[in-house]
Amino acid sequence: MDPAVKSNASNGNGVARGTSNLVLILDYGSQYTHLITRRIRQLSVLSLCVSGTNSLDSISKLNPSVVILSGGPHSVHSPGAPSFPGGFLEYAEENGVFVLGICYGMQLIVQKLGGVVDVGEKQEYGKMEIVVEGECGLYGAEAAGGHQVVWMSHGDEAVNLPEGFTVVARSLQGSVAAIENRSRRLYGLQCHPEVTHSPQGMETLRHFLLDVCGISADWKMQDVLEEEVKVIKGMVGPDEHVICALSGGVDSTVAATLVHKAIGDRLHCVFVDNGLLRYKERERVMSTFESELHLPVTCVDASEQFLNKLKGVKDPEIKRKIIGHEFICIFDEFAIELEKKLGKKPTFLVQGTLYPDVIESCPPPGSGMTHSHTIKSHHNVGGLPKDMKLKLIEPLKFLFKDEVRKLGRILNVPESFLKRHPFPGPGLAVRVLGDVTEGNALEILRQVDEIFIQSIKEAGLYDSIWQAFAVFLPVQSVGVQGDQRTHSHVVVLRAITSEDGMTADWYYFDHKFLIDVVRKICNNVRGVNRVCQDITSKPPATVEWE
Ligand code: XMP
Repeated sequence: MDPAVKSNASNGNGVARGTSNLVLILDYGSQYTHLITRRIRQLSVLSLCVSGTNSLDSISKLNPSVVILSGGPHSVHSPGAPSFPGGFLEYAEENGVFVLGICYGMQLIVQKLGGVVDVGEKQEYGKMEIVVEGECGLYGAEAAGGHQVVWMSHGDEAVNLPEGFTVVARSLQGSVAAIENRSRRLYGLQCHPEVTHSPQGMETLRHFLLDVCGISADWKMQDVLEEEVKVIKGMVGPDEHVICALSGGVDSTVAATLVHKAIGDRLHCVFVDNGLLRYKERERVMSTFESELHLPVTCVDASEQFLNKLKGVKDPEIKRKIIGHEFICIFDEFAIELEKKLGKKPTFLVQGTLYPDVIESCPPPGSGMTHSHTIKSHHNVGGLPKDMKLKLIEPLKFLFKDEVRKLGRILNVPESFLKRHPFPGPGLAVRVLGDVTEGNALEILRQVDEIFIQSIKEAGLYDSIWQAFAVFLPVQSVGVQGDQRTHSHVVVLRAITSEDGMTADWYYFDHKFLIDVVRKICNNVRGVNRVCQDITSKPPATVEWE
């Protein structure tokens, strides 16, 4: 059974086994599948996404009220094209489950029920107009006869519908855009309502889920919180102890705060100063952990240990590996110390794994990749000691980043903390190019970064920027300061906008801001005589320089 399904069924996160009102997305590999899940949650309806080839048993155990079959890159005719399990449509009908197929999902319904899907005469990609043909369930009476702009992305199309289905919308060039069989509760959309290029897409989803399927929009973060606290209390025995590595980021902080609410000081957190933190980072995060969140945190100053190991190392990958390895050693020592103190081993480990990590770890059917539930390396910076045998608590496993922030708000995690820009696990090591221990590179970088970030905050731009930071280049350039020629360092400023860090655009500062910030840096940071701005998007660049 898919990990998401399994722990959801037992874990809750707002859904208990047998709970209805759940919208289940069966994933057939579309790049937009996650977006469907997110959009539905934005309607205050819980949705979960699982592989489209899950067994009927695992689907029925979740007891969904609605199942959405996602789009996908395949043709229903291609060999090995992924599909729902045998008996699924009968199960849906018998249990009053509504089914909506989107794009490939719609074509699957058509083909499986005896209709015909074929290569369209004209392929439809991009923004197109459709006409809602008459009064129908999918769009509601008011939309009848109206035009809508939608996003299409398909080569195949439904050319013959199965018995009992009607076409309820067509593209302007005549192909089937939406179908329904109201008595069997089966619906299909050839277009993608989940993308913003379909301006009425949210309304289509809202109308379908709330008005047609009768789903209640009552999924609240407060319920998720209460459910999770209950689940953690049930999982961790009264004498058991839990450990958590705090990175200073939003995810681990919210996860730890949640677990602390459930089991109090049987949670033991560790925050490692690896010598690669930003200006006053350690003091700032420790003060939030202790004074504002009252988390039991041990701060380990391991900066010398890390920097000694990094001395002379220039290769970016080797730097990352060394850092990952040192984290594991320190974590191991922390667990041993704790065992001595408590007289027993801690049994659980908290991780701030998010839903996109869970979904991304489960490749879509038909992709040729095998299922591997591996958590992205930055959640545990290089993995955990193999012999620790800790059971995992991943209380954010079903949440997206913005939902984690909402949860954090309910848990009184300070707003300034929740809105912090992401910071990479290997810290400033990926922002000092080459050997991080050479000269006073780290110190220069900290000062430049602090001036840049404070200037951004003072200008009120912090929340409009996804991530901003400075980079130290291991080169020197000629300058003139006072009447003297200087031979000093070059730093780079990088600020980006992004949705998720996967792609990014550089942020456009006005001239006045840049003039001021460069002046401040050159006047205040000794050893810097040149400041550049990185105006490369991702791709082709990455966000970080190493
Ligand atoms: P890149 O440089 O891959 O970065 O475009 C995308 C996002 O991921 C962050 N990043 C990391 N985070 N460990 C982390 O915890 C890492 O090794 C790492 N490398 C990049 C980066 O800051 C950006 O937000």
